[in-house]
Amino acid sequence: MGLYADFFFPQGMDWIKGGPHFQRKRELALKPARGDVLELGFGTGLNLAHYPEGVDALFMVDLATLLPKRVEGRIAAAGIPVSRKALGAEKLPYDAGRFDCVVSTWTLCTIPDLKKALEETRRVLKPEGRFIFLEHGRSDDERTARWQDRLNPVQRVLGCGCNMNRKIDEFIREAGLEIERLDRFRMPKTPRIQGEIYQGVARRRG
Ligand SMILES: C[S@@+](CC[C@H](N)C(=O)[O-])C[C@H]1O[C@@H](n2cnc3c(N)ncnc32)[C@H](O)[C@@H]1O
Repeated sequence: MGLYADFFFPQGMDWIKGGPHFQRKRELALKPARGDVLELGFGTGLNLAHYPEGVDALFMVDLATLLPKRVEGRIAAAGIPVSRKALGAEKLPYDAGRFDCVVSTWTLCTIPDLKKALEETRRVLKPEGRFIFLEHGRSDDERTARWQDRLNPVQRVLGCGCNMNRKIDEFIREAGLEIERLDRFRMPKTPRIQGEIYQGVARRRG
């Protein structure tokens, strides 16, 4: 992976996405989480402090193992049983209907085959399960979206595969999930091209 991807990028990501505005959004987004929860792309474990009491166990998948010592500390402090697997969200090793919730925060931008990962999300959710998402993506403002398209190749390099121009709600619907709630807003103190947020809850359709 290299020094940038293994050290500088996760350090920077942890610092920015662990900031107070981001923590507040995590706390609000994760409020509906309950039961057995699968988190896609858990990164440096910044959500661990925000899971509510009704969460029984956490299962986490991520291709990378970022800042392992810091993550271990966060897992120990979380007080919830945590199981981690180093693999991609595109092929999940869990039975259909296994989870009460699947969670993704600032991860759908980076997963290479997002369509597959969301189809897997749908598969592993219980029929009454919920997909909780807090993501950045494509702006509804055409001028901003054009800049996102122009600068995306640079973002992909600097952000280790992150895309800033994905229309997150469309990907979710196309995977057979029905969005029950969608909040669109801009992250404070974040450049607009990277701060267009899609936050919400979806359920299995059909
Ligand atoms: C921008 S980070 C977000 C981390 C964390 N979710 C957060 O909220 O701080 C994106 C994460 O997605 C992970 N990732 C990339 N491709 C993935 C894949 N195919 N499956 C699961 N996770 C993946 C990366 O390793 C990274 O940890």
